[in-house]
Formats: sequence, C-alpha cells, structure tokens
Amino acid sequence: MRAWPHIFVQSPVMSSSLIQALVFNLRYEARDIISVELRPLSQEAGFPPAEAGSHIDLHLGNGLIRSYSLTNSGESDRYVVAVLKDRRSRGGSLYVHEQVRVGQVISISSPRNNFQLDEAASQNVLLAGGIGITPLYAMLKRLRELGRRTHLIYCARSRSDAAFVEDIQALVAASHDGALSVHFHFDDEKGAAPDLVRLFSNFSAETHFYCCGPGPMLEAYEKACDKLGYAHVHMERFAAAPELTDQVTDSAGYTVALKKSGKTVQVPPGTKLLDALLSAGCKVEFSCREGLCGACETRVLSGEVEHRDSILTKAERAANKSMMICVSGCRSGTLVLDA
Ligand code: FES
Repeated sequence: MRAWPHIFVQSPVMSSSLIQALVFNLRYEARDIISVELRPLSQEAGFPPAEAGSHIDLHLGNGLIRSYSLTNSGESDRYVVAVLKDRRSRGGSLYVHEQVRVGQVISISSPRNNFQLDEAASQNVLLAGGIGITPLYAMLKRLRELGRRTHLIYCARSRSDAAFVEDIQALVAASHDGALSVHFHFDDEKGAAPDLVRLFSNFSAETHFYCCGPGPMLEAYEKACDKLGYAHVHMERFAAAPELTDQVTDSAGYTVALKKSGKTVQVPPGTKLLDALLSAGCKVEFSCREGLCGACETRVLSGEVEHRDSILTKAERAANKSMMICVSGCRSGTLVLDA
C-alpha cells in the first residue's frame, strides 16, 4: 500500500542501512510539484534494486525524515521521487522545494515496497489522485515493459496540477498495440468528481486495480470496487486512516518477549509498543511512526495483535505473522516477537 508523499515524521530514527545519494537533477513537473533525481555516490556499487510501487525515505538536513514513492523502478543508477509542496507541510516538502539543491549529498533509505504490483496480471487499472500518480507512474512504465494491458485514470484539480502528463501521453502513444490507455479527469474541466463505478464497469473479474490518492478518493475507490465485485484491489495511503490513528495505544498493559535479544519488556497501559521497546534499550527500526512506511514491520511468533497500520491487507492481518510496532498493540496479554 503505501505514495507518497507519505507524511512522515521525524527523528530520532533507527535505520541500519542509510545510503548517501547525490542530488543530480531537480525538474519542474507541475504547479508545486518537482521531481528529485538521485544518483549513487559510487557508480560501481549502484543503488539497491527498486520495484515499481516502492518508496524511499529522504533524511533531510533539518532533521526530518520524509518518505516518497519512486517514479522509476529497475534502475540501479538512479532513483527519482516527486514532491508536492504541501500547504499543510510540517517542514518536509517545504524543505525539499526550498533547500534541496543540485550537487548536495543527502542520506536516503533503501527502497521498501508496501504497494506491490502483481506482474503476472494481464489486465490492470491504475487510479491516481493528484501526487498519488507517483507510484502509479512507475507501475505504468513497468507494465508497459511487461506488455500488460493497463488503463490509467489520472485525476487532478486541474491540468496545471498534474505531473508527468506529457510523459504519460508519450508512453501511451508509443504503445502501438493499444496495451496502454489513459483517461484524464481534471476537476476544473469536468466540474464534478469522477464517477468511478462508471469508469470501472467494463473490466473482467480478473483485473487488478491499484489506487493512490487522498482519503476521500480511496474511500470512493473501495466502494466502487466493492459494488462491482472486484477481488484484486490494491491501494496506498498518503496518510494513516483516521479510524486507525484515533486509537494508537492500548488501555491495558501487556508483555512482549523478544526472541532474538532474549529481552522481556512490559508495555504499560497507554504506551506505544515502539516507545516501550526504545525505552528498554532495544534496537528496532522505524521511520514514520504512523503505520504507513513499513520500516518497523516485525515478525510475530505468538500472541494476538491489534493491528492499526495502513499497510497490511485483511488476509495479512488474519495471518498474524507480522505487525507494525509503531502503532499496533496486543489483544492477548503477551506477544512473542522475532526481534
Ligand atoms: S515506523 Fe513506519 S510503519 Fe512503523
């Protein structure tokens, strides 16, 4: 699931594998959107491989960490992210727009992918809302490489607010076999929100659907897919779902046993598991603290998890094999984690 620009917080962060990257190019993509092209400092080593749908964390000079989806995949010599200057910015997107300059070196994380593309699916529909185009643009290019039939629906407030429009049009025009198609929906031209039920209605039951966009679009997307009975529904959130963030601590305490380190930690009522582990001196990775990025995903060996993240699917939650320790808790009194 996961497009940012995910709205991520903040230091301190535990990360085992920061990479130094050169800001190689900045490009104006649309009103208030720039792309940032990063190159490895060592061309020989290259960047770790990134799949379509992946994101990376940027460790900004003001101490903030923000996670952004990659617009490219399968290129070890560069990563490209797109950043919207958010009017409600808590410092991250403003910093990128106003302080990041070509030639600087910044620290980044390895790519993580919470929004996986099923590369075997022969028919795909991608729904992008605003800056949510970022991971979907990477997917569109990958699906083009694979020769999969793909229809992109790209919604934005106006044409001026939509990034990569010309690149997408060129990609579609180059697919002579008609495998790629695109429908643009600009609110100021159409005068109404897109009718997703109508736009989704003529696809086979095997079609895979992907959406990245603001909360209301994701809700409409889920409802439309539900109404039409589609089973292969994927999405990535910009921000944690409100119903998940309203309650991020447990009213009852519980015990966590960590198998690898041999520690046992008490999590008091009202305390987040991540904070309890950090207070106990445990070395754990985390980044967003909002259940969005996947950095803190930890294997569960036993115990019943109260999942509150925005990443795991219903099936993954039911399997109870892993949890996001930054937001999720415990229902069973005791958890055993592979940490
Ligand atoms: S730190 Fe991002 S999901 Fe937990």
